[in-house]
Amino acid sequence: MLLAGKYRVILAVFNQKGGVGKTTTVLNLGAALAARGLSPLLIDLDPQAHLSLAVGAQNARPEDSTFALFRDPRPLADLIQARPGFDLIPAAAELSKVESLYGGDAAAARRLSEALRSLAVPPSRPVLIDCSPVLGVLSLNALLAADWILIPLGGDFLSMDSLTRLSGGLDVLEKRTGRRLVRRIVFTRFMARRRLSQEIYRRVDARFPGQLCRTLIAENVSLAESPMHGRDVLAHAPSSQGAADYRALLRELLEGGFLEAPAQATSVV
Ligand SMILES: Nc1ncnc2c1ncn2[C@@H]1O[C@H](COP(=O)(O)OP(=O)(O)O)[C@@H](O)[C@H]1O
Ligand SMILES: [Mg+2]
Repeated sequence: MLLAGKYRVILAVFNQKGGVGKTTTVLNLGAALAARGLSPLLIDLDPQAHLSLAVGAQNARPEDSTFALFRDPRPLADLIQARPGFDLIPAAAELSKVESLYGGDAAAARRLSEALRSLAVPPSRPVLIDCSPVLGVLSLNALLAADWILIPLGGDFLSMDSLTRLSGGLDVLEKRTGRRLVRRIVFTRFMARRRLSQEIYRRVDARFPGQLCRTLIAENVSLAESPMHGRDVLAHAPSSQGAADYRALLRELLEGGFLEAPAQATSVV
């Protein structure tokens, strides 16, 4: 079924800090979408391939992974693995070579956006991209393809500094491309009893008005455990705080217009 020309939303989950919950967010926001019948396409663009591992798709051959966007490019449709409730394009360790092999090639940063443009995806079917913690060719591919960027904010003080730098980098990118990225920040690994968490929330909200999600993703053991069982948290522990938080995050994003074609949507032609 060819539906080129229809809008669909592409969300990149990015922060150049590691361990802040990017992969956890893609996995579980994806599961929350799947639970609503919105069957997302999850794309693993991180050489660490943790998302692929978490859904039992580790050890993909390079030619069957997102690496194939770069070397002997294959149509994206050939790379999609259908799973119950969602689709996946896995990562492979070879992605770590992309920076050195293609870092000097300006066109390499647009491989994913071009590939997504020519992909027949049903309208309103969301695409979630799990990024590596490096602002290089791989992450640029995600940012240039995306309509939305979701920035998971870990709860330590240094994450505020990296958020300020990231925000500045996104401003530059928007100026250069003339495209607006809808930005949301989500506080992950929130510890309600820690005053530091409360203080960081207050400061980020003041510094980035309208961007910080009201939903807090609490530090929750089920979120840490579920990948070990090859499952998302909704399947692993449906009544856990972690499952409730990611369902609430999706609700908030939907209420904020996620899945609605914004004024400056990516024109998929
Ligand atoms: N809210 C949370 N509560 C408990 N553990 C979490 C939470 N979010 C992430 N983790 C755990 O923290 C580690 C890093 O999270 P991950 O999503 O892999 O971060 P990133 O992709 O940003 O490097 C993983 O072991 C993950 O299971
Ligand atoms: Mg990750």
